[in-house]
Amino acid sequence: MDAPTLIQACRGQATRHVPIWIMRQAGRYLPAYQEVRAKHDFLTMCHVPELAAEVTLQPVREFGFDAAIIFSDILLPLEPMGIEVQFIEGKGPRLAPQIRNMQDIAKLIDADFDPSSCFLGQALQAVRHELAADKALIGFAGAPWTMACYAVEGMGSRDYAVVKQLMNTDPAALHALLDKLTTVLIRWLRMQLDAGADAFQVFDSWADALAPMDYREFALPYLRRIFETLRPMGKPGILFSKDAGAFAAENCQLPIDVLAVDWRVDLAALRKQHTGTGPTAYQGNLDPLALLGNRETLLEKAKRILSENATTPGYIFNLGHGVTPATPVENVRALVDCVHEFRSAT
Ligand code: CP3
Repeated sequence: MDAPTLIQACRGQATRHVPIWIMRQAGRYLPAYQEVRAKHDFLTMCHVPELAAEVTLQPVREFGFDAAIIFSDILLPLEPMGIEVQFIEGKGPRLAPQIRNMQDIAKLIDADFDPSSCFLGQALQAVRHELAADKALIGFAGAPWTMACYAVEGMGSRDYAVVKQLMNTDPAALHALLDKLTTVLIRWLRMQLDAGADAFQVFDSWADALAPMDYREFALPYLRRIFETLRPMGKPGILFSKDAGAFAAENCQLPIDVLAVDWRVDLAALRKQHTGTGPTAYQGNLDPLALLGNRETLLEKAKRILSENATTPGYIFNLGHGVTPATPVENVRALVDCVHEFRSAT
């Protein structure tokens, strides 16, 4: 049996069609998701394996995406570490207690996970059971730096002042926090791969907050440890680094299989620069807001990205960030069809 199309692309192999999935594909733009969401809050949907599995599968059934990404959130592994996670309607995540010094860090629990008893493992097993063999199942986690931002700030932040204060007053404490987070995130990802995920993506949403010297000290070594440790499992690892075009060259040197970039990066130029030395595949990078425009412009832009990137193997179509709630469903359908028809149209 051949590997799923998306996994073939991750390995740099030629595929019958260009694989596509989109970040936040199970989300508020989708009426079927809204229906489930009207009855349950977001965290309940994550914690109940049947609900998480159902909304994970919805976009694959609806549009024929080449992958399902498990419905969950990057903040959830903080709960078994001893941090309470809440999502406040209209405000976003709130975490308590905030982790601000060495004593707080020492209290964090070194959590470990078992695929058959953890809600996320059970959800993954249920999805893999339902999913066709040619579709990939993607597990995920936040990058250590991004997770440290949330753990220290206790919420999203505009300027990361509190975590940067820790960085600049007690760097050893920040390193201790990153080290602990990395250990738990590796176990969180390994559990997902053991439960049936075919690949994993690490989301580094706040990488752009860092100066290059700080990125090299506080982000890169921990990313390296994650990808190096999981590599022997033989399942592709994808790094999505947001607004971090400045760090793309260094990210290309990590032991990753796929680099995913946001829409500000010239993906074709990046690939050309790193041919033969960087990751085997690249993923991206249509501006998600192109899905809110007219159909003609959307498909024109998608085709531009395809003609620049999909003529050589090792390419996965995706957006440069998550699909937004106002996105018309018919535009998503048109985009998936356009990507799938690409080779026959050339
Ligand atoms: O991509 C997918 O479909 C898989 C599921 C997924 C979610 N969050 C579901 C979700 C993934 C991969 C994430 C990752 C995530 N979560 C990130 C990294 C990616 C990024 O966006 O940069 C971050 C920073 C978070 C933290 C988080 N979760 C935020 C800031 C929010 C928004 C809060 C708000 O009020 O809108 C969430 C909530 C969230 N995560 C939703 C979904 C579908 C919306 C929940 C709802 O229905 O209200």
